[in-house]
Amino acid sequence: MRVEAILVPDPGPGEAVVRIQACGVCHTDLHYKQGGINDDFPFLLGHEAAGIVESVGGDVTDVAPGDFVVLNWRAVCGRCRACLRGRPQYCFDTHNARQKMTLLDGTELSPALGIGAFAEKTLVAAGQCTKVDPAVSPAVAGLLGCGVMAGIGAALNTGQVGRGDSVAVIGCGGVGDAAVVGARLAGAAKIIAVDIDDRKLETARTMGATHTVNSRSTDPVEAIRGLTGGFGADVVIEAVGRPETYKQAFYARDLAGTVVLVGVPTPDMRLDLPLIDVFGRGGSLKSSWYGDCLPSRDFPMLVDLHQQGRIDLAAFVTETIGLGDVEKAFARMHEGDVLRSVVEFA
Ligand SMILES: NC(=O)c1ccc[n+]([C@@H]2O[C@H](COP(=O)([O-])OP(=O)(O)OC[C@H]3O[C@@H](n4cnc5c(N)ncnc54)[C@H](O)[C@@H]3O)[C@@H](O)[C@H]2O)c1
Ligand SMILES: [Zn+2]
Ligand SMILES: [Zn+2]
Repeated sequence: MRVEAILVPDPGPGEAVVRIQACGVCHTDLHYKQGGINDDFPFLLGHEAAGIVESVGGDVTDVAPGDFVVLNWRAVCGRCRACLRGRPQYCFDTHNARQKMTLLDGTELSPALGIGAFAEKTLVAAGQCTKVDPAVSPAVAGLLGCGVMAGIGAALNTGQVGRGDSVAVIGCGGVGDAAVVGARLAGAAKIIAVDIDDRKLETARTMGATHTVNSRSTDPVEAIRGLTGGFGADVVIEAVGRPETYKQAFYARDLAGTVVLVGVPTPDMRLDLPLIDVFGRGGSLKSSWYGDCLPSRDFPMLVDLHQQGRIDLAAFVTETIGLGDVEKAFARMHEGDVLRSVVEFA
């Protein structure tokens, strides 16, 4: 990674330039850097951001300069087959800014998830700006733009966790812990956190986990079954993105239960499961993109719940850092030292 000067075009039709105040470091940024998403280098990383709209294209009416917004990677089109069926949270044609941000020599940048917010200013589609209550701190609000929304939504929207359910979450980083928060909000009776790092398990407990399992030393499938009367959890959320943890999730769920895959695998990964088990165990195997959220519906709602003290989004911010410290933040993420490092701009 390098900090470079970039050119941000003035917003054209349907676009906005946002002055970034804070942007979290998500594992997906690391996936991009390592070539795990695609090969469209050079990337402009950063996508969990909040800031102030600085300027908008002539035809933009939904947001205006001065608005405090969280950036989203689901600007829905309103016209695709999902949108037309009233399911915009699955929009198949989300959009980003049309113009390109570039290096000074004209090299086009690929903004991570169409955002690119490890930058003082970024160019997005106006629909990527979701207004929220400016009373909430930018570092906290920005996390709703990806990981926290992905985790909470994996529990609430995709997993449809209900009152009294048992839930297991495999991988308790920022995303997995957000799934724990979502499960608690939904009224889950039992929330089992699984990780290979005891520090992560301790944090998961403060977020609402009722039980913890270190899967480095304990078979997580046996442990989850043991904690659920021998049966398995109603909903198991996989927040790592690896075949072995997916298999654990698959076998740690009760018959007719639900697996939610929110961890992002790399293109080379393969899964081998006995088809008879897929059939025989029933239930549903789902993947969750962005927690199946609708930003305009869910971001302001989660900000409200945070303001009421019903969820503590500030607990996800382990540290605030400068733009030059992102590489260090990746190392700390890799070491398991942080839930979220958040880049703050003066
Ligand atoms: N689906 C989505 O919309 C979406 C959105 C954001 C992030 N993600 C993905 O979610 C995943 C998690 O992201 P994050 O930012 O929380 O990452 P993170 O690095 O903060 O957390 C990962 C956690 O998994 C744990 N872990 C690693 N290997 C494990 C194993 N074998 N068993 C159990 N736990 C293990 C780590 O100790 C760590 O606590 C990543 O794959 C990321 O790309 C998906
Ligand atoms: Zn659409
Ligand atoms: Zn992310």
